[in-house]
Amino acid sequence: MPTPVIDIDSLTKVYPRQIGQPARRSLDDLRLRIGENEIFGFLGQNGAGKTTTIKILCSLLRPTKGAASVCGHDVRTRAARSCIGYLPENPYFYEYLTPRETIDFYGRLQGLDKATRAREWDALSERLDLRGIGAQRIRGFSKGMRQRLGFAVALVGDPPVLILDEPMSGLDPLGRRMIRELILSLRAAGKTIFFSSHVLGDVEQICDRVGILVEGRLRTQGRIDELLNRRNEQVELVVSGLSAETADALARDALHARRSEAGLHLTTADAAAANAMARAALSEGGQIVEFTPIRESLEAYFVKEQAS
Ligand SMILES: Nc1ncnc2c1ncn2[C@@H]1O[C@H](COP(=O)(O)OP(=O)(O)O)[C@@H](O)[C@H]1O
Ligand SMILES: [Mg+2]
Repeated sequence: MPTPVIDIDSLTKVYPRQIGQPARRSLDDLRLRIGENEIFGFLGQNGAGKTTTIKILCSLLRPTKGAASVCGHDVRTRAARSCIGYLPENPYFYEYLTPRETIDFYGRLQGLDKATRAREWDALSERLDLRGIGAQRIRGFSKGMRQRLGFAVALVGDPPVLILDEPMSGLDPLGRRMIRELILSLRAAGKTIFFSSHVLGDVEQICDRVGILVEGRLRTQGRIDELLNRRNEQVELVVSGLSAETADALARDALHARRSEAGLHLTTADAAAANAMARAALSEGGQIVEFTPIRESLEAYFVKEQAS
Protein backbone atom coordinates (compact mmCIF):
# COMPACT_ATOMS: atom_id res chain seq x y z
CA MET A 1 0.00 0.00 0.00
CA PRO A 2 1.31 3.52 -0.74
CA THR A 3 1.59 5.82 2.29
CA PRO A 4 -1.47 5.05 4.38
CA VAL A 5 -3.81 7.90 5.29
CA ILE A 6 -4.58 6.25 8.62
CA ASP A 7 -1.80 4.24 10.18
CA ILE A 8 -2.56 2.38 13.40
CA ASP A 9 0.55 0.85 14.87
CA SER A 10 0.17 -1.70 17.66
CA LEU A 11 -2.35 0.21 19.69
CA THR A 12 -3.09 -1.21 23.10
CA LYS A 13 -5.47 0.29 25.62
CA VAL A 14 -5.93 -0.80 29.19
CA TYR A 15 -8.46 1.31 31.06
CA PRO A 16 -7.67 2.00 34.69
CA ARG A 17 -8.90 -0.78 36.92
CA GLN A 18 -12.34 -0.26 38.38
CA ILE A 19 -13.41 -1.36 41.84
CA GLY A 20 -14.21 -5.04 41.87
CA GLN A 21 -12.98 -5.56 38.31
CA PRO A 22 -9.64 -6.72 36.98
CA ALA A 23 -7.82 -4.49 34.47
CA ARG A 24 -8.55 -5.67 30.96
CA ARG A 25 -7.09 -4.98 27.58
CA SER A 26 -9.83 -3.20 25.69
CA LEU A 27 -7.52 -2.97 22.70
CA ASP A 28 -4.68 -5.36 22.14
CA ASP A 29 -1.89 -4.66 19.66
CA LEU A 30 -4.15 -3.29 16.93
CA ARG A 31 -2.45 -2.70 13.58
CA LEU A 32 -4.33 -1.32 10.60
CA ARG A 33 -3.57 0.76 7.56
CA ILE A 34 -6.17 2.60 5.58
CA GLY A 35 -5.28 3.86 2.12
CA GLU A 36 -6.28 7.07 0.45
CA ASN A 37 -9.86 7.28 -0.76
CA GLU A 38 -10.85 4.00 0.86
CA ILE A 39 -14.06 3.22 2.70
CA PHE A 40 -13.00 1.03 5.59
CA GLY A 41 -15.60 -0.73 7.74
CA PHE A 42 -14.54 -1.41 11.29
CA LEU A 43 -16.75 -4.19 12.54
CA GLY A 44 -17.31 -5.66 15.93
CA GLN A 45 -19.93 -6.38 18.51
CA ASN A 46 -20.62 -4.10 21.45
CA GLY A 47 -17.60 -3.86 23.69
CA ALA A 48 -15.16 -5.00 20.99
CA GLY A 49 -13.11 -1.79 21.25
CA LYS A 50 -14.31 0.22 18.23
CA THR A 51 -15.05 3.43 20.09
CA THR A 52 -11.80 3.13 22.03
CA THR A 53 -9.88 2.97 18.74
CA ILE A 54 -11.76 5.89 17.26
CA LYS A 55 -11.24 8.04 20.34
CA ILE A 56 -7.51 7.37 20.16
CA LEU A 57 -7.50 8.36 16.48
CA CYS A 58 -9.28 11.59 17.36
CA SER A 59 -6.92 12.17 20.28
CA LEU A 60 -9.70 12.08 22.86
CA LEU A 61 -8.02 9.18 24.60
CA ARG A 62 -4.40 8.15 25.05
CA PRO A 63 -3.28 4.67 24.19
CA THR A 64 -1.48 2.60 26.81
CA LYS A 65 0.95 1.52 24.12
CA GLY A 66 1.45 2.10 20.43
CA ALA A 67 0.87 5.05 18.14
CA ALA A 68 -1.31 6.19 15.30
CA SER A 69 -1.11 8.77 12.58
CA VAL A 70 -3.55 10.43 10.22
CA CYS A 71 -2.36 12.08 6.99
CA GLY A 72 1.19 11.46 8.15
CA HIS A 73 0.77 13.35 11.44
CA ASP A 74 0.82 11.78 14.87
CA VAL A 75 -2.76 11.78 16.13
CA ARG A 76 -1.78 13.86 19.16
CA THR A 77 -0.93 16.83 16.94
CA ARG A 78 -3.15 19.65 15.81
CA ALA A 79 -2.20 18.91 12.22
CA ALA A 80 -3.74 15.44 12.50
CA ARG A 81 -6.85 16.76 14.20
CA SER A 82 -7.44 19.27 11.43
CA CYS A 83 -7.43 16.47 8.83
CA ILE A 84 -10.25 14.65 10.58
CA GLY A 85 -13.99 15.07 10.51
CA TYR A 86 -15.34 13.12 13.47
CA LEU A 87 -18.85 11.85 14.09
CA PRO A 88 -19.11 10.56 17.66
CA GLU A 89 -21.28 7.61 18.62
CA ASN A 90 -23.69 9.92 20.44
CA PRO A 91 -23.15 13.42 19.10
CA TYR A 92 -23.51 16.05 21.78
CA PHE A 93 -25.02 19.40 20.96
CA TYR A 94 -25.86 22.63 22.72
CA GLU A 95 -29.56 21.99 22.86
CA TYR A 96 -30.61 25.61 22.84
CA LEU A 97 -28.77 26.34 19.59
CA THR A 98 -30.21 25.81 16.12
CA PRO A 99 -28.48 23.68 13.46
CA ARG A 100 -27.44 26.80 11.64
CA GLU A 101 -25.88 28.28 14.78
CA THR A 102 -24.21 24.95 15.51
CA ILE A 103 -22.52 24.80 12.12
CA ASP A 104 -21.53 28.42 12.52
CA PHE A 105 -20.04 27.65 15.95
CA TYR A 106 -17.89 24.80 14.62
CA GLY A 107 -16.85 26.92 11.65
CA ARG A 108 -15.69 29.62 14.06
CA LEU A 109 -13.67 27.06 16.03
CA GLN A 110 -11.86 26.31 12.81
CA GLY A 111 -11.24 29.98 12.18
CA LEU A 112 -13.48 30.22 9.11
CA ASP A 113 -14.59 33.74 8.22
CA LYS A 114 -18.23 34.76 8.17
CA ALA A 115 -18.75 34.42 4.43
CA THR A 116 -17.15 30.96 4.40
CA ARG A 117 -19.30 29.89 7.34
CA ALA A 118 -22.41 31.00 5.50
CA ARG A 119 -21.34 29.02 2.46
CA GLU A 120 -20.66 25.99 4.65
CA TRP A 121 -24.18 26.19 6.02
CA ASP A 122 -25.66 26.46 2.53
CA ALA A 123 -23.76 23.45 1.26
CA LEU A 124 -24.13 21.25 4.35
CA SER A 125 -27.78 22.02 5.01
CA GLU A 126 -28.52 21.09 1.42
CA ARG A 127 -26.46 17.94 1.53
CA LEU A 128 -27.87 16.72 4.86
CA ASP A 129 -31.40 17.91 4.38
CA LEU A 130 -31.27 20.34 7.30
CA ARG A 131 -32.63 23.37 5.57
CA GLY A 132 -36.18 22.98 6.85
CA ILE A 133 -35.03 22.72 10.46
CA GLY A 134 -32.16 25.20 10.28
CA ALA A 135 -33.78 27.69 12.62
CA GLN A 136 -35.28 25.25 15.15
CA ARG A 137 -33.72 24.57 18.52
CA ILE A 138 -31.98 21.19 18.67
CA ARG A 139 -33.85 20.32 21.83
CA GLY A 140 -36.62 18.00 20.71
CA PHE A 141 -34.83 16.74 17.58
CA SER A 142 -35.24 13.09 16.63
CA LYS A 143 -32.32 10.65 16.41
CA GLY A 144 -32.32 10.98 12.63
CA MET A 145 -32.16 14.77 12.72
CA ARG A 146 -29.35 14.66 15.30
CA GLN A 147 -27.39 12.18 13.24
CA ARG A 148 -27.67 14.37 10.14
CA LEU A 149 -26.58 17.41 12.10
CA GLY A 150 -23.69 15.43 13.64
CA PHE A 151 -22.63 14.47 10.15
CA ALA A 152 -22.81 18.07 9.00
CA VAL A 153 -20.58 19.08 11.93
CA ALA A 154 -18.07 16.39 10.91
CA LEU A 155 -17.97 17.87 7.40
CA VAL A 156 -17.37 21.49 8.43
CA GLY A 157 -14.14 22.71 6.87
CA ASP A 158 -14.10 19.91 4.30
CA PRO A 159 -11.62 17.56 6.03
CA PRO A 160 -10.00 14.84 3.88
CA VAL A 161 -10.58 12.04 6.43
CA LEU A 162 -13.89 11.11 8.02
CA ILE A 163 -13.96 9.02 11.16
CA LEU A 164 -17.48 7.94 11.97
CA ASP A 165 -18.51 5.97 15.03
CA GLU A 166 -21.60 3.88 14.23
CA PRO A 167 -23.02 6.43 11.79
CA MET A 168 -26.05 4.29 10.97
CA SER A 169 -27.00 3.07 14.41
CA GLY A 170 -30.46 3.95 15.63
CA LEU A 171 -31.65 5.08 12.21
CA ASP A 172 -34.59 3.75 10.23
CA PRO A 173 -33.99 2.13 6.82
CA LEU A 174 -34.38 5.43 4.97
CA GLY A 175 -31.97 7.15 7.32
CA ARG A 176 -29.46 4.34 6.90
CA ARG A 177 -29.72 4.59 3.17
CA MET A 178 -29.16 8.30 3.26
CA ILE A 179 -25.99 7.82 5.31
CA ARG A 180 -24.77 5.06 2.97
CA GLU A 181 -25.28 7.26 -0.05
CA LEU A 182 -23.58 10.14 1.71
CA ILE A 183 -20.53 8.00 2.49
CA LEU A 184 -20.36 6.89 -1.14
CA SER A 185 -20.61 10.47 -2.35
CA LEU A 186 -17.80 11.45 0.03
CA ARG A 187 -15.61 8.78 -1.43
CA ALA A 188 -16.45 10.02 -4.93
CA ALA A 189 -15.27 13.43 -3.72
CA GLY A 190 -11.90 11.93 -2.79
CA LYS A 191 -12.32 11.45 0.96
CA THR A 192 -11.02 8.59 3.06
CA ILE A 193 -13.67 7.13 5.34
CA PHE A 194 -13.19 4.98 8.41
CA PHE A 195 -16.40 3.94 10.12
CA SER A 196 -17.39 1.51 12.79
CA SER A 197 -20.49 -0.61 12.83
CA HIS A 198 -22.09 -3.73 14.13
CA VAL A 199 -24.60 -3.52 11.28
CA LEU A 200 -23.18 -5.87 8.73
CA GLY A 201 -25.57 -5.22 5.89
CA ASP A 202 -24.60 -1.56 5.70
CA VAL A 203 -20.92 -2.35 5.74
CA GLU A 204 -21.21 -5.06 3.13
CA GLN A 205 -22.87 -2.70 0.72
CA ILE A 206 -20.39 0.13 0.71
CA CYS A 207 -16.98 -0.83 2.10
CA ASP A 208 -13.85 -1.50 0.10
CA ARG A 209 -12.30 -3.32 3.02
CA VAL A 210 -13.34 -4.37 6.48
CA GLY A 211 -11.59 -5.29 9.68
CA ILE A 212 -13.28 -7.43 12.30
CA LEU A 213 -12.49 -6.67 15.91
CA VAL A 214 -13.21 -9.31 18.55
CA GLU A 215 -12.55 -8.45 22.20
CA GLY A 216 -9.95 -5.83 21.37
CA ARG A 217 -8.08 -7.92 18.82
CA LEU A 218 -8.22 -7.69 15.08
CA ARG A 219 -9.55 -11.06 14.03
CA THR A 220 -9.24 -10.50 10.32
CA GLN A 221 -9.15 -7.82 7.66
CA GLY A 222 -9.44 -7.70 3.94
CA ARG A 223 -11.62 -7.01 0.98
CA ILE A 224 -15.13 -8.24 1.48
CA ASP A 225 -15.13 -10.47 -1.59
CA GLU A 226 -11.86 -12.05 -0.50
CA LEU A 227 -13.11 -12.65 3.02
CA LEU A 228 -16.22 -14.27 1.71
CA ASN A 229 -14.32 -16.17 -0.93
CA ARG A 230 -17.05 -15.61 -3.42
CA ARG A 231 -15.26 -17.18 -6.30
CA ASN A 232 -15.80 -20.58 -4.81
CA GLU A 233 -19.39 -20.13 -3.94
CA GLN A 234 -21.89 -22.89 -4.35
CA VAL A 235 -24.73 -22.57 -6.83
CA GLU A 236 -28.23 -23.90 -6.56
CA LEU A 237 -29.76 -24.97 -9.83
CA VAL A 238 -33.45 -25.73 -10.23
CA VAL A 239 -34.30 -27.87 -13.25
CA SER A 240 -37.64 -29.13 -14.52
CA GLY A 241 -38.88 -31.39 -17.32
CA LEU A 242 -36.34 -34.17 -16.89
CA SER A 243 -36.97 -37.88 -17.17
CA ALA A 244 -36.69 -39.80 -13.91
CA GLU A 245 -33.46 -41.40 -15.08
CA THR A 246 -31.75 -38.15 -16.02
CA ALA A 247 -32.93 -36.57 -12.79
CA ASP A 248 -31.45 -39.42 -10.77
CA ALA A 249 -28.15 -39.23 -12.64
CA LEU A 250 -27.85 -35.45 -12.07
CA ALA A 251 -28.86 -35.80 -8.43
CA ARG A 252 -26.02 -38.29 -7.93
CA ASP A 253 -23.51 -35.78 -9.32
CA ALA A 254 -24.73 -32.90 -7.14
CA LEU A 255 -23.51 -32.07 -3.66
CA HIS A 256 -27.08 -32.07 -2.56
CA ALA A 257 -30.41 -32.68 -4.30
CA ARG A 258 -34.07 -32.33 -3.39
CA ARG A 259 -37.36 -32.03 -5.17
CA SER A 260 -40.03 -29.34 -4.89
CA GLU A 261 -43.00 -28.25 -6.98
CA ALA A 262 -40.63 -26.02 -8.94
CA GLY A 263 -38.51 -28.97 -9.99
CA LEU A 264 -35.28 -30.66 -9.03
CA HIS A 265 -32.97 -28.53 -6.83
CA LEU A 266 -29.30 -29.33 -7.32
CA THR A 267 -26.52 -27.80 -5.26
CA THR A 268 -23.13 -27.70 -6.95
CA ALA A 269 -19.69 -26.79 -5.65
CA ASP A 270 -19.17 -23.78 -7.92
CA ALA A 271 -20.40 -21.97 -11.01
CA ALA A 272 -18.42 -24.19 -13.41
CA ALA A 273 -20.01 -27.34 -12.03
CA ALA A 274 -23.42 -25.69 -12.16
CA ASN A 275 -22.91 -24.76 -15.81
CA ALA A 276 -21.89 -28.29 -16.69
CA MET A 277 -24.96 -29.61 -14.95
CA ALA A 278 -27.20 -27.07 -16.68
CA ARG A 279 -25.83 -28.12 -20.08
CA ALA A 280 -26.48 -31.77 -19.28
CA ALA A 281 -30.03 -30.96 -18.19
CA LEU A 282 -30.73 -28.87 -21.31
CA SER A 283 -29.36 -31.53 -23.65
CA GLU A 284 -31.75 -34.02 -22.06
CA GLY A 285 -34.73 -31.78 -22.80
CA GLY A 286 -34.94 -30.16 -19.36
CA GLN A 287 -35.38 -26.49 -18.52
CA ILE A 288 -33.43 -24.32 -16.15
CA VAL A 289 -35.87 -22.70 -13.77
CA GLU A 290 -33.34 -21.05 -11.46
CA PHE A 291 -29.60 -20.53 -11.23
CA THR A 292 -28.73 -19.02 -7.86
CA PRO A 293 -25.28 -18.43 -6.36
CA ILE A 294 -25.45 -19.20 -2.66
CA ARG A 295 -23.76 -16.20 -1.18
CA GLU A 296 -22.34 -16.35 2.24
CA SER A 297 -23.36 -13.04 3.70
CA LEU A 298 -20.95 -11.04 5.78
CA GLU A 299 -23.37 -11.70 8.61
CA ALA A 300 -22.88 -15.46 8.35
CA TYR A 301 -19.13 -14.94 8.08
CA PHE A 302 -19.13 -12.70 11.12
CA VAL A 303 -21.04 -15.23 13.20
CA LYS A 304 -18.56 -17.91 12.16
CA GLU A 305 -15.62 -15.64 13.03
CA GLN A 306 -17.06 -14.87 16.43
CA ALA A 307 -17.58 -18.52 17.16
CA SER A 308 -14.18 -19.78 16.05
N1 LIG B 1 -13.93 4.71 30.17
C1 LIG B 1 -13.85 3.38 30.30
N2 LIG B 1 -13.42 2.81 31.46
C2 LIG B 1 -13.31 1.47 31.60
N3 LIG B 1 -13.62 0.59 30.61
C3 LIG B 1 -14.07 1.09 29.44
C4 LIG B 1 -14.20 2.50 29.22
N4 LIG B 1 -14.66 2.69 27.95
C5 LIG B 1 -14.79 1.48 27.42
N5 LIG B 1 -14.43 0.51 28.29
C6 LIG B 1 -14.43 -0.94 28.03
O1 LIG B 1 -13.62 -1.19 26.91
C7 LIG B 1 -14.20 -2.18 26.08
C8 LIG B 1 -14.37 -1.66 24.67
O2 LIG B 1 -15.33 -0.62 24.68
P1 LIG B 1 -15.67 0.24 23.39
O3 LIG B 1 -14.42 0.72 22.78
O4 LIG B 1 -16.68 1.24 23.77
O5 LIG B 1 -16.32 -0.87 22.43
P2 LIG B 1 -17.31 -0.74 21.17
O6 LIG B 1 -17.29 0.66 20.72
O7 LIG B 1 -16.77 -1.71 20.18
O8 LIG B 1 -18.67 -1.15 21.67
C9 LIG B 1 -15.50 -2.59 26.74
O9 LIG B 1 -15.27 -3.75 27.49
C10 LIG B 1 -15.81 -1.43 27.64
O10 LIG B 1 -16.52 -1.84 28.77
MG1 LIG C 1 -18.82 1.98 20.43
